Amino acid sequence: MRHTPPGPNGEPLFGSSRTYSRDPFRFVEAVESAYGDVARFDMGPLDTYMLADPVAIEQVLVSEADRFRKPDFQNDALGDLLGSGLLLSEGETWERQRTLANPAFSMSRLAGVGDRITDHAEDLVAHWVPGDEMDVERAMTTVTLDVILDLMLGVELPEERVRTIQDQLVPLGRRFEPNPFRFAAPSWMPLPGDGEFSTAIANLEDVLDDIIAQRERETGTEDDGPMDFLSVLLRARDRGEQSPEQLRDELMTMLLAGHDTTALTLTYTWFLLSEHPDVERRVHEEVDDVLAGERPAMAHVREFEYVERVINEAMRLYPPVYTLFRTPTEPVELSGYQIPEGASIMLPQWAVHRSDRFWDDPETFDPDRWRPERQVDRHRFTYFPFGGGPRHCIGKHLAMLEAQLILATIASDYSLKFLGETPLELQPSLTIHPRQTMRMRVEERDS
Ligand code: HEM
Repeated sequence: MRHTPPGPNGEPLFGSSRTYSRDPFRFVEAVESAYGDVARFDMGPLDTYMLADPVAIEQVLVSEADRFRKPDFQNDALGDLLGSGLLLSEGETWERQRTLANPAFSMSRLAGVGDRITDHAEDLVAHWVPGDEMDVERAMTTVTLDVILDLMLGVELPEERVRTIQDQLVPLGRRFEPNPFRFAAPSWMPLPGDGEFSTAIANLEDVLDDIIAQRERETGTEDDGPMDFLSVLLRARDRGEQSPEQLRDELMTMLLAGHDTTALTLTYTWFLLSEHPDVERRVHEEVDDVLAGERPAMAHVREFEYVERVINEAMRLYPPVYTLFRTPTEPVELSGYQIPEGASIMLPQWAVHRSDRFWDDPETFDPDRWRPERQVDRHRFTYFPFGGGPRHCIGKHLAMLEAQLILATIASDYSLKFLGETPLELQPSLTIHPRQTMRMRVEERDS
């Protein structure tokens, strides 16, 4: 057994954190291409191991998941925002809350909500006129927020309140942009941006209080009531099984984790379709064939093949969550190396999804690589946009359903023409956002 994997040396004090912060995507790609399956480096004081070995990734996420937890450094600012909601909690709290949440995300519940998703997509396009120019990321955020508010929190908010939520996303996102000083500084030390971050959290908490009050007024919390996540939580609260703090943390987690990622997936999909008219044409053909003039519904999503491949391929190239972090709770062996308890482990979707060790021509947008016959030799964890194992994304099926219904609703009538600059420059934060406003023009299909 070898003890220390090779890796970049970095600088005194900062280690590799300054290079990483300047461009995390280029950094993880360079490390993967120089060192392959596993590399070690310092991120400020953190002893960090990057795994780009699908077998080791599966061990961490699935087969040996109980030997790892989410790292504490995520709990600083992210903890202020999400508390012990589903994304960050551990142990018994996580198990109890995940069990409580699962029915709201089950396939049987989702089978009944397709129409409501299509309603929201139709509301979005109701006022579109060919020739309109718009910020597509903003439009996709609006519709995915409407969906999550309706399906998981059981409310429809006035436009002005939806805008309040959207306006907090910028200061929140800024707080999680990689910053070498944050790696090096102790967590109690105030840094620029902390004030606007706290204000954004307080503003979102006000919206959550309104949502709870509105639900209690309108729907009550009877046992045979609706199965959305908020209803389930309110019933648990009434049984004395959910503290007001836990309720707040779960709602905040659901509101934020439940819309931004899906909006980004759609934004990158529209960008890629605009840049690849041949792929767009095939999407239009499949949408027309499958819908046959009907409005998009769950039954059509089951028949989509190419549309699903396009979305998978968009998330390969632009995984909204681009790295996962874990910490071993005991010494572990991964990719032939001993990794100590307490180390920081990075599982970089970005580097694995774009490695020529696993993908032919990895930079090319090629939805056909998702044809079954082209997947046979590929390890399952060469692609993990939704994570894996017990902590896999609870919203995975909802996100895929939603993305396909929204895409089909828009693509039935319109084509979106990207008007910005290429290549896309990306802004890392908790998720990957385009740096520029994603300006696109609505065009009538096939015009
Ligand atoms: C394309 C869309 C989405 C992507 C790419 C995505 C990605 C992910 C990833 C990678 C994780 C695992 C994090 C980790 O292992 O550390 C995760 C967890 C989670 N996601 Fe998603 N997500 C998406 C949509 C959604 C939606 C629609 C919801 C809610 C409605 C949601 C709620 C959550 C929650 C609550 C967790 C924590 C689950 C747990 O630990 O039990 N996500 N997501």
